[in-house]
Amino acid sequence: MFGRVKPLDAILATAEKKSLHRSLGAIQLTLLGVGAIIGTGIFVLTSEAAQKAGPGMMWAFVIAALVCGVAALCYSEIASMVPVSGSAYTYTYAVMGELLAWMVGWALILEYAVAASAVSVGWSGYFVGLLNSWGITLPHAISVGPYAGGIVNLPALLIALLVTALLMVGTTESARVNAVLVAIKVTALTVFIVLTLPVIKGENFEPFMPNGWFGNGQGAGLGAVGAAASIFFAYVGFDAVSTAAEETKNPQKNVPIGLIGSLAICTVFYLLVAAGAIGAIGAQPVSGPNGEILAPGTSMLADQCKSLVAAGTEPLVCSREALAHVLRAVGWERVGDLIGVAAFLALPSVILIMLFGQTRIFFVMARDGLLPEKLASIHPKWKTPHIVTMITGVAVSFFAAFLPVGQLADISNSGTLFAFFMVALAVLILRRTQPDRPRPFRTPLVWVVAPLAAAGCFGLFLNLPFESKMVLPVWGGIGLIVYFAYGYRKSHVGRGLVEVHESDADAPPQPVPPID
Ligand code: ALA
Repeated sequence: MFGRVKPLDAILATAEKKSLHRSLGAIQLTLLGVGAIIGTGIFVLTSEAAQKAGPGMMWAFVIAALVCGVAALCYSEIASMVPVSGSAYTYTYAVMGELLAWMVGWALILEYAVAASAVSVGWSGYFVGLLNSWGITLPHAISVGPYAGGIVNLPALLIALLVTALLMVGTTESARVNAVLVAIKVTALTVFIVLTLPVIKGENFEPFMPNGWFGNGQGAGLGAVGAAASIFFAYVGFDAVSTAAEETKNPQKNVPIGLIGSLAICTVFYLLVAAGAIGAIGAQPVSGPNGEILAPGTSMLADQCKSLVAAGTEPLVCSREALAHVLRAVGWERVGDLIGVAAFLALPSVILIMLFGQTRIFFVMARDGLLPEKLASIHPKWKTPHIVTMITGVAVSFFAAFLPVGQLADISNSGTLFAFFMVALAVLILRRTQPDRPRPFRTPLVWVVAPLAAAGCFGLFLNLPFESKMVLPVWGGIGLIVYFAYGYRKSHVGRGLVEVHESDADAPPQPVPPID
């Protein structure tokens, strides 16, 4: 299984046969990255990070950015060497063999699908807030899940199903639509920064680290590092740039620019937004009756927030539409509503990118024979992998309907951190095993940067809340069972078949001499 490696040359040859038009340049790629990155993380999870770390969430944004930065440098080297779709899954297949590739692909399902659920729930918070600002109140029972005293998060469920339906009939976001939505998001964040920075008050940053670095011994997932593990979600998406490598002009140069450029732009915005939010209205966590730290997404915190709101104060940590809330609280009511409109318009495109990424991964895995090819079959009229899209969409909307946004983001992070960890290892292994292969982009100081990326990912993973951390091994265990029950026997590489028709999942694999 470890010996079942898909040779890099075979992967590259397949990609060359593919006739995808290379149309994307450095700017479009960077925009693609920014479009995938800015979403629920900054618009919604800012409150959750504040609950975990107070103003110390500034550190959380810095730590998460650093881990993503070193991971992006690793992604850049490998994506410029192997500019094909399938991202971390494909790289692992080429470097560490089929079993680990399967595990990475399986973890990416967690990353993308659960991220789509998380963004749907984030969107729902803004949608409900927007309706409120128009004087329409949705019943509590259908606007949040059971974790906050509701029954089902109907808006989250519906938006996930709607995006799924669009994907099934063949909507892919065009570069132009993406550019417009990126402009909306960037404008919203800029307006936020411009309106909040002038009203910053120094005392709102005090105490700066109420929960310390690690939650003062009150459980994993709290404190500045715990907040970093969660807010990591805000940066996820830059890896989407690497999945577009096959459609990029001069990918060797442009993919690293897109990856690192989009991450750098978002980091600057996030730090300014976080400083503006904290400085304008404060970001102290809400504690329980005995002064204990309450974890975000729990009914205890929801109850505590309810009584605070009833008493006429809504702290940042209680808001489901953090950025709009801050602006309303400092007197910019209408602008706050407009931020809500921006989130309402732009967040669905993040759901779309995540769901699309998910179906792509499924698709590539099915094409390699590790999942039933029927799953990846193409609809005759819509020309989309409609079956896998529908199955994914139903699962995504189910989780969106019942789970809190922070928990979904944490679960998604566990899968992403695993994939990033494997990419960092793959870069190092390739340096050893194939030192002479051309590397258009070389990770600087790779023996420092890649181990830092791996250690950073592992460290953040350890600081996720216990339940979210446990999802990865359980999901991985299910993955192993599926692999040995199905993929191990059906694998094309295992059977000595290597795909040549990249663009056409229905085409039967061509026999080639077995690989040893
Ligand atoms: N980074 C993306 C978001 O925050 C996934 O929504």
